[in-house]
Amino acid sequence: MLRRVPRVVRIQPRDPEPSIVAEAAAVLASGELVAFPTETVYGLGARGLHADEVRRIFAAKGRPHGHPLILHVDGEAMARSLARDWTDAAARLAAAFWPGPLTLVVPKGASVPAEVTGGLDSVGLRCPDHPVAQALIGAVGEPLAAPSANAHMHVSPTSAAHVVRSLGDRVALVLDGGPCSTGIESTVVDLVGSPPRVLRPGALSLDRLREVLPDIVFEATVVEGDGPRTSPGQAAKHYAPSAPLTLTPSGEATFETVRSAVHDGQRVAAIVWSPGIGDRLRQTIDAAEGPAMVLVLPDDAEAYARELFHALHTVDEARCDRVVVERVPETEAFWAVSDRLARAART
Ligand code: TXA
Ligand code: MG
Repeated sequence: MLRRVPRVVRIQPRDPEPSIVAEAAAVLASGELVAFPTETVYGLGARGLHADEVRRIFAAKGRPHGHPLILHVDGEAMARSLARDWTDAAARLAAAFWPGPLTLVVPKGASVPAEVTGGLDSVGLRCPDHPVAQALIGAVGEPLAAPSANAHMHVSPTSAAHVVRSLGDRVALVLDGGPCSTGIESTVVDLVGSPPRVLRPGALSLDRLREVLPDIVFEATVVEGDGPRTSPGQAAKHYAPSAPLTLTPSGEATFETVRSAVHDGQRVAAIVWSPGIGDRLRQTIDAAEGPAMVLVLPDDAEAYARELFHALHTVDEARCDRVVVERVPETEAFWAVSDRLARAART
């Protein structure tokens, strides 16, 4: 099948060319979608105060209406203009972590279209730490509504190539600023209720949030099926490659699961982090009991997070029957990674 591709334009990630930024802003002003890099993942952007343009994001992703979008701002002043109430907690978090991978859910201001918030009375706001995103918001002169630039439920994009693969020409223009430095989405914090609550674990750690808000709470939840949820990131299945993904206990069990799946005639991809298992699997790769592909990710949580989505895209492209992923350590440092893997493993 011939897949139509969008226009992809390379842009300097640290010092974006003003002419390219202006062109992207003009594409947005004409009502079309532009994918752009942030430090977390690529976003699929539309002008956030234009309801009809925001609606195009849902159509392009196949995202159900009612799943709220984040508005990306260029600083606290723009954020305040979009919030009905900018609390002391919001001001302190913004001062500590913006620009950066933190989304604040606050009471929605009157200028924010209902399309952005999925009808909720709150709005998610984030100031991204990426020169391209910042320059684009500045050139457009209003917040950009942008979810991750992938088809609904699929793996989030950490490169322009991932965006093209997932969305094809459902996006008009992709700004290619190279790979994302953080590689996993922002942490979403709900400041509407009390105490403040983490809705989605992400690139900003719980430890760092607690330094500013000691009473913040986080309960890991995976909502089954279509049950009620406060955040669509809680959808049970999400971030999944098309082949079934199995999480296995770290070490020997991973090795055995791969071996028995290969024995059953399956084309298997393995994603592991413990060095011993990686070496042993690689030694078997050309043998009859070997998997089709072995990806060894770093054992450091931040480095693992940076590479995870790329690994999931890679195994997806290799069209395996089965993906076996070695469980990551149950430490707080891996909170966002564990969350994404648990959702990717849902059937
Ligand atoms: O790092 C990121 O956050 C990336 C980049 C592009 O900024 N964006 C992203 O957007 O991951 P998306 O739409 O894939 O995820 C947005 C998350 C969802 O879990 C959504 O439920 C939550 O933010 N969210 C947004 N507004 C909300 C609101 N008013 N109430 C509750 N949750 C909200
Ligand atoms: Mg997403």
